[in-house]
Amino acid sequence: MLTAGAVCVIVFLVVAALALILPDPDREPASELPALARSHGIDLGVAVAVNPLTHDSRYRDLVTDHYTSVTAENTMKWQYVQPERGTFDWSGPDAVVNHAGDHGLSVRGHTLLWHNQLPDWLAQGSFDAEELRAVMREHFGALMGRYEGRVASWDVINEPFEDDSPRLRENLWHRTLGEDYVAEALRTAHETDPEARLYINEFGVEGSGEKADALYELASDLLDQGVPLHGIGFQGHFVHGAVPEDLAENMRRFAELGLDVEISELDVRVPEPATTEDLEAQADEYRHVLESCLAVSRCVGVTVWGVADAHSWIPEWFPGYTAALPFDDDYAPKPALGGMIQALSRGRRAQPRATTRTMSGRR
Ligand code: G3I
Repeated sequence: MLTAGAVCVIVFLVVAALALILPDPDREPASELPALARSHGIDLGVAVAVNPLTHDSRYRDLVTDHYTSVTAENTMKWQYVQPERGTFDWSGPDAVVNHAGDHGLSVRGHTLLWHNQLPDWLAQGSFDAEELRAVMREHFGALMGRYEGRVASWDVINEPFEDDSPRLRENLWHRTLGEDYVAEALRTAHETDPEARLYINEFGVEGSGEKADALYELASDLLDQGVPLHGIGFQGHFVHGAVPEDLAENMRRFAELGLDVEISELDVRVPEPATTEDLEAQADEYRHVLESCLAVSRCVGVTVWGVADAHSWIPEWFPGYTAALPFDDDYAPKPALGGMIQALSRGRRAQPRATTRTMSGRR
């Protein structure tokens, strides 16, 4: 005979088990976006922050319901991964890569060489070329090695050009190793993980212009030298009203070199206060970006830079701007999400065109 206490425990366990199994009636239905993206053979990705990913189930649900890939917004950057020389912190990167693995999402690795978010020991250290090469090899070996087979592509070089000019940036790597640091880093990354797709990732190059031309020259030159460069990430941090019309045309010339291309950090910031009209026009801009990717046969994906406005980097970095992402501060979908759905529902995928060059690497 069961006691009343035992019956209570059993009832509690049954209710708890049902709560885990049955769908939550208040939960938004999973969207059609992942299937639509996959039907075109592209990834629809999102940049994620570790804290909400590990503590906020609604945030996690937005990621797994709407996207097919993730990028770590910060936690794979040098400052967090190797805060002291030879001391690595894998807690954040593991959380992102494990979440992706558990939900069938691919991972973009971001980022290996950048001038920002470096630890003090590196940014303020004085290294000769030989030692800096060793530092690079150690870091790539640890980070790429840990996630070999689980991180499909890496932003090996992030923002190699000056912010507003087509000149190669005077960063730590350039100063110490010379302008060949780009080729050296790509070769080192390729030796470390020969299967990974290796990218240069840049901003201000999405439409045609001097900086885009300089990137095109750099990419052509690297391919001529047989350097293992596989793709270009066009970041896509746009201002509402100024999204380049010629996005597809510009990406296509890189694709015709034999490179994959992608929009790697999409957001469209709106001046405050964001009106209903602004958000509807922003939806057209999101649609245009997705359509531009579909229009280029080697465009392999679009990644939005953040899950929801509540977590976006925009208000901190661009005071007076807001509402850059497809979900709002309360995680409710915005017209921009509809813009992406429209593009992927109606759009047709461009067919491959002959490339003028080939490069090493798989695909
Ligand atoms: O880590 C500290 C934490 O200890 C502290 O408590 C907190 C207080 O504000 O700040 C944390 O650091 C912030 C960091 O993001 C991690 O959240 C910095 O203040 C913040 O400035 C930093 O901003 C990041 C920015 O890169 C740094 O340059 C943005 O989140 C991130 O979205 C942005 O991402 C870059 C891409 O990597 C490359 N392309 C441009 C893009 C936008 O800058």
